[in-house]
Amino acid sequence: MILAAVSLALQPMATQAGEEPVDPYAVSNVNAGAGAANDPRLLAAWNGKAGIDRVVDRFVDRNFADPRISDIFKNHDQVRLRRTLKEQFCFLLGGGCNYTGRDMRSSHKNLGIENADMNALVENLQIAMGGEGVPFWAQNRLLAKVAPMRRDVVER
Ligand code: HEM
Repeated sequence: MILAAVSLALQPMATQAGEEPVDPYAVSNVNAGAGAANDPRLLAAWNGKAGIDRVVDRFVDRNFADPRISDIFKNHDQVRLRRTLKEQFCFLLGGGCNYTGRDMRSSHKNLGIENADMNALVENLQIAMGGEGVPFWAQNRLLAKVAPMRRDVVER
């Protein structure tokens, strides 16, 4: 019974059209790297799920176009990244989504990410949140969850 449940959890994920397949992994909201907020005001300040999706799209656009870090992103599956980031942010912000992506350490293994790359990415996230009009207090609630993930993402 337990074995059946484990092998089920390790099945390759059903992916969205246009995504490249990835090696099987155990799916869990724990992979999101932090717990979910429980504050309806927070979700409203982000303009709901639609607002979260817009922020992620702008954030991903910026990261792929940013000469400081675009080399790290190029050749990676942008369709999957958008989907999993939308799930992750929605989960963390208490939007009721499940996160189906990989954990932060394995997602970023061997990408050679440095502290300066992380700083550039956070800057892009702040610009994307500002573009959506997310108030600072509500931006900070996400940043507080994401900032400690630096230790799983930065390799040197
Ligand atoms: C701590 C903040 C970060 C968070 C919350 C985050 C989140 C994510 C998520 C959810 C994924 C997809 C996982 C999956 O495919 O299952 C991912 C993949 C990726 N991230 Fe991050 N990330 C962070 C920092 C960074 C930084 C600083 C960089 C580089 C500047 C980066 C570059 C990438 C790349 C290139 C992938 C694709 C990996 C692949 O295709 O296998 N991430 N990230």
